[in-house]
Amino acid sequence: MTPSVVPAGFVRAHTSVRRPSSVPEVRLHVADDVVALWEAMEVAGGAGEAPPFWAAAWPGGQALARFVLDAPETVAGRVVLDLGSGSGLVAVAARLAGATRVLASDVDAYSRTAIGVNAGLNGVDGISVLGDVLAHPLPPVDVVLAGDVCYDREMAERVLPFLDRARAGGRAVYLGDPGRPYLPHDRLAEAAVYEIAETEGPGTRRTTVWRLP
Ligand SMILES: C[S@@+](CC[C@H](N)C(=O)[O-])C[C@H]1O[C@@H](n2cnc3c(N)ncnc32)[C@H](O)[C@@H]1O
Repeated sequence: MTPSVVPAGFVRAHTSVRRPSSVPEVRLHVADDVVALWEAMEVAGGAGEAPPFWAAAWPGGQALARFVLDAPETVAGRVVLDLGSGSGLVAVAARLAGATRVLASDVDAYSRTAIGVNAGLNGVDGISVLGDVLAHPLPPVDVVLAGDVCYDREMAERVLPFLDRARAGGRAVYLGDPGRPYLPHDRLAEAAVYEIAETEGPGTRRTTVWRLP
């Protein structure tokens, strides 16, 4: 079973510090070998751990982080929610771009520790870490950022109504996505497109930052 609080030492011991290819301003603890890391998590906590989503900079997160760093006016002076924060890459980028405060939400206890470790690595404060917010009223934020959260149908079906609610409540909402089939592209507006390097192999992945109009 996942420990309710994962020690920061676990994250540091089982990852290497790298700069995501499209966001070299940020340093992150990432897995060199995802399978070995997953096994280490199972040794620490028992069988049935979720994969270490928190130990990679996903293409949607890299695109969204690049977007806020290139267009800081989207977050500067605002309170931001980073939904499905994973490593915390988008949360860190939002603070570097001038967000006054960031709430970083993730269901995974490993992620919640990694966010704090990665914030510290980048000398960034002002990030509060939360668990699952999808079933709750929207926290008091101005902007919602969601990097690569529509990675399967079930998650997309939970996330999209939450994002619609946020938009209907007047929040700016941006999604970073590398072309997953569960996104309702016809009702989203394209804000930016990036070619993000594949973590394995020489190719790139066309990744879009979508805005809820
Ligand atoms: C594909 S990863 C993307 C991580 C990061 N945003 C990035 O782009 O690098 C999706 C993340 O969503 C998290 N997640 C899944 N269900 C969630 C929920 N209900 N609330 C918040 N986060 C959730 C997972 O634990 C995982 O860290």
